[in-house]
Amino acid sequence: MDIKTIGGPFILAPLAGYTDKAFREIARLWGADAAVTEMVSAEGLARNGEKTKALLERFPGEDNLIVQIFGPSDDPVRRAMENLLSYNPTAIDINCGCPVPKVVKTGAGSALMKNPEMIGKIIKAIKEFTAIPVSVKFRLGWDSESINFMEFASVAAEAGAEMLTLHARTRAQGYSGQADRNAFRILSEGFNGSGILLFGSGDVFTPEDAISLIDECHLDGVMFARGAIGNPFIFKETKMMKAEGCYSIPNLKDRMETAMKHLDLMVKYYGEDKGCREMRKHLMAYIKGIPGSSRVKNEIATLTSSEKIKEILMTLVQADFL
Ligand SMILES: Cc1cc2nc3c(=O)[nH]c(=O)nc-3n(C[C@H](O)[C@H](O)[C@H](O)COP(=O)(O)O)c2cc1C
Repeated sequence: MDIKTIGGPFILAPLAGYTDKAFREIARLWGADAAVTEMVSAEGLARNGEKTKALLERFPGEDNLIVQIFGPSDDPVRRAMENLLSYNPTAIDINCGCPVPKVVKTGAGSALMKNPEMIGKIIKAIKEFTAIPVSVKFRLGWDSESINFMEFASVAAEAGAEMLTLHARTRAQGYSGQADRNAFRILSEGFNGSGILLFGSGDVFTPEDAISLIDECHLDGVMFARGAIGNPFIFKETKMMKAEGCYSIPNLKDRMETAMKHLDLMVKYYGEDKGCREMRKHLMAYIKGIPGSSRVKNEIATLTSSEKIKEILMTLVQADFL
């Protein structure tokens, strides 16, 4: 598959609880080539659940969208396909990395790493319904005793996956410990030239991390996850770094203006009360490390008025000028 099909090499990763349409809109404004939805339950999709439908809504003008689904087997995925296709995803990604017990105990998420045969069945089931590209996001293995990402990737490739994203940690590692860069090299040695897009995920916190991952591990692209929370600027910075070899970072005023724009979108999409509440975790990330932020954190965590929150954000900018 050509990288242009999905938009480009710099993608906002799926982040449950974060990559809703407001955050995706902000990330795209700052240069993300595409974004992935939060993980969506195949069973929920099959039942046309309201919660599921909300996760799949696009922001106005969102031209491409990778939809991530999770499920334990081909059965709910088959039943979900009609509803899923009505959203016209750019690509359908299958979650094989979620470590959360509630998901894993059903056989979905990273539990699929223990059952590589099943990922083949799921991909083939999707392909019975559509020619939309199928992508798989997976881990190194269940734990350090059962590293099987190459076997897993081979089954997915054999079944027709057009894109592979390796999160180079085991399920047992969760989100801690360093992502294993060597695993990306092994993946690209095995699949370069296959026509399958190879993406890396794990410890992408700076433009340098992203560019070196692509260049040194011979990947087609990277997914930005925790590194983009409160920091959508990373997409523009990475593109500058790629084009010019260096990049500039936005000043505090630009950062806070983006945080306020993000807040406005949350309020527009979810209403004043819910929008402000859902925005709190993003705001904590936007203000992290800024002088005076620890002073305002608790206040932001209680407010349900976007105007009041903006006033507080502006005090951080003004304090910077003093
Ligand atoms: C809060 C949170 C939610 C996540 N949700 C998902 C998800 O829904 N689907 C998925 O495939 N990965 C999910 N991930 C994993 C990320 O997409 C990414 O692979 C992982 O964080 C490693 O990248 P990083 O070390 O650069 O953050 C999530 C990670 C975090 C921290």
